[in-house]
Amino acid sequence: MRRVAIIGAGMTPFGEHWEQGFRDLVVEAGIKAISDAGISGDRIDAGFIGTMASGRLIGQEHIGGLIADYMGLTPIPITRVEGACASGGLALRQGFMAVASGLHDIVVVGGVEKMTDLGVNTVSDILGGAGDQEWELFLGATFPAIYALMAKRHMLDYGTTEEMMASVAVKNHRHGAKNKYAQFQSEITIETVMKSKKVADPLKVFDCSPITDGAAGVVLAPLELAHSFTKKPVEIIACAQASDAIALHSRESLTSLKATQVAGKKAFDMAKLTPKDIDFAEIHDCFTIAEIMAIEDLGFFPKGMGGPASLEGKTALGAELPVNTSGGLKACGHPVGATGVKQAVECVWQLRKEAEGRQVKDAHIGLSQNVGGSGATAVVHIYKGT
Ligand SMILES: CC(C)(COP(=O)(O)OP(=O)(O)OC[C@H]1O[C@@H](n2cnc3c(N)ncnc32)[C@H](O)[C@@H]1OP(=O)(O)O)[C@@H](O)C(=O)NCCC(=O)NCCS
Repeated sequence: MRRVAIIGAGMTPFGEHWEQGFRDLVVEAGIKAISDAGISGDRIDAGFIGTMASGRLIGQEHIGGLIADYMGLTPIPITRVEGACASGGLALRQGFMAVASGLHDIVVVGGVEKMTDLGVNTVSDILGGAGDQEWELFLGATFPAIYALMAKRHMLDYGTTEEMMASVAVKNHRHGAKNKYAQFQSEITIETVMKSKKVADPLKVFDCSPITDGAAGVVLAPLELAHSFTKKPVEIIACAQASDAIALHSRESLTSLKATQVAGKKAFDMAKLTPKDIDFAEIHDCFTIAEIMAIEDLGFFPKGMGGPASLEGKTALGAELPVNTSGGLKACGHPVGATGVKQAVECVWQLRKEAEGRQVKDAHIGLSQNVGGSGATAVVHIYKGT
């Protein structure tokens, strides 16, 4: 297997883009990533694009063909990858495998979603299709409701409190306020979260990631060629994926995502590292409880201690393990298919020391964890600055 590096990265601002369509967002992010890599389109061998629900959200399928056309990349093969909210992370994994295997040298990976053109109830219904449609969504369980069940169980089993969950949102908004690409760039307090409208008890509006438009892109190359393109390639030293039962009622546990645990362990084994070696992490905080469970499932904190660790500030910038310096899904926004690639972009910026006001000191190794649905898919990447 060849070693793989990211040689270029870019993204659109995340938020509500009335002025740009789906294809405009991909083109903007793609051009930023390609320009950052300093290559021209004719150097590209293949592309992978993650998007979850373009068919239902904007009525457009055949995204690979659309992007090849609008990026001016025909006849290069571009392939759509779908794995719900993990679509971006899975696209990155496909790109990684294509370069690692030797099939392709230069591969562009993108992620995109255009979600704000429809009302929140319709979007909620579409997102709910990433769970078990027959046993969950059909009976009224949208994603906030599913994560609310996990939160309730975590509170019962480990004493996690609503304040602990709120502290995740407060921290991620504080980080997002330092990121010019974030949907929400304002700080909030625990009180803001606690007083916000109930969505699905115990989750309130500020415990939830928002509905977002946006796109992100990275360019991959074999590490041996990477230095001819950029002075600061970022190596992907681990890439792992796992799956689990799609419906919550079929899972072994309501307070852990087994797919995250398995993908995390595989990634640490592949990188020959332990959680202690990670300097910062981009975590899939679609709801505040999701970040608490993930930092436990990945072994950063013992089971049940994710809530107290968050409340005590152990995951904030400047602390032992900064989590979601981008603002995470909560504050940076969550255009579902784009999120996994945006996490990679943030890791690249951190490892190249280009994260401006949110730079993690001595960032050398970063990790990203991207989840599909309520945990039927998880993908974990580990990155190293060179
Ligand atoms: C939480 C949620 C229901 C709120 O939707 P809503 O109540 O319809 O909110 P609106 O779109 O009417 O926005 C009302 C205000 O709240 C803000 N807002 C909306 N969602 C927000 C969020 N998650 N966090 C903070 N503020 C939010 C909006 O910016 C808006 O502010 P403004 O009045 O200053 O413009 C919606 O964001 C949601 O469904 N989130 C979850 C998405 C999801 O499930 N993703 C997949 C995860 S696996």
